Amino acid sequence: MLAGGRGTRLRPLTHSMAKQLVPVANRPILHYVLDHLRDAGVADVGVVISPETGAQIRAALAANPWGVRLTFIEQPRPLGLAHAIMVSRDYLGTEPFVMYLGDNLIERGIAEFVRTLDHEGADAAILLKEVPDPRLFGVAELDGGGRVVRLVEKPAAPPSRLALVGIYLFTPTVHEVIAALAPSARGEYEITDAIQGLLDRGRRVASAVLDGWWLDAGKKDDLLEANRLVLDRWARCEVAGEADAASRVVGRVTLAAGGRLVASTVEGPAVIGPGTTIERSRIGPYTSVGAGCAIVDSTVERSVVMDGVRLVGVPRLEDSLIAPRAIVTRAAGGGARLVIGEDSQVEL
Ligand code: TTP
Repeated sequence: MLAGGRGTRLRPLTHSMAKQLVPVANRPILHYVLDHLRDAGVADVGVVISPETGAQIRAALAANPWGVRLTFIEQPRPLGLAHAIMVSRDYLGTEPFVMYLGDNLIERGIAEFVRTLDHEGADAAILLKEVPDPRLFGVAELDGGGRVVRLVEKPAAPPSRLALVGIYLFTPTVHEVIAALAPSARGEYEITDAIQGLLDRGRRVASAVLDGWWLDAGKKDDLLEANRLVLDRWARCEVAGEADAASRVVGRVTLAAGGRLVASTVEGPAVIGPGTTIERSRIGPYTSVGAGCAIVDSTVERSVVMDGVRLVGVPRLEDSLIAPRAIVTRAAGGGARLVIGEDSQVEL
């Protein structure tokens, strides 16, 4: 499970947090990944971490409700997905393995996919998804029988519309191929080069096409979309907190214990974390609010609001990602006054 990397596309959030820990419906992305691995029968999970965010990842998995054996493997620098396998070689030994990118979210599990290697006698299997614009992805060319013939990275003239999802299976044969790889033009050991290397050696690479949605939550728009889809599928109506008589809860809303609604409306699907107070505000639909937030005289739609955030007098916030402990208030006098971090984006 890959939980290192740079996360440049999700700045400024990733200046202080691992992108795999960004919450979707108030759970870190990595927790969904572990759900899928456990459900597929994976009992040993090697977690590739970076020196910068490794401690956060360890802390976020420490409770380990999945009951899997976790081994943390530090990758000194983010030199690519094939490099993550290189640093895990001793851990992986002679076992076949699944590699799951820790910021990829899929709707359904991978239980059926992990059996592909046995079924097909292949040395690798890739998971594919038809996408509208394959020029933005790694793309596979298949023969008539679904065998992979060639992989191309971000092709100008795509051979198919089948993009590579961030979940792969390998036998230990891949280690020899990776040991012989040279870094690509961007200085990384590319997983597409490793798979192409297997093909060039006459090895078989199987493929399966993913049912259900797939999102790369390492990008802002995909992250908001993931929040929308996860809430849509899993949000339940569960009001453990308090809602006063002047408040309304519409549809599937989870209000955690210690959450409080005062003269507010929450429209589901939405989740509100513990210890959060919402006063004279309107929240949702498709909104997650973390723990210990205060939202007063504001409206928030289709957004992810993380722990400890304060929003006061914000007339209409939508499609937004607000990092922990950020404060947004209405400026007196009409002019905007900002104190924002590096790489922040503000649309007024
Ligand atoms: P990417 O999103 O491809 O790379 P990145 O994390 O460097 O992000 P960005 O392009 O925004 O800078 O990585 C996919 C997943 O794999 C992600 O969960 C991070 C992880 N990863 C590693 O663990 N080690 C690596 O060397 C790389 C490149 C990624």
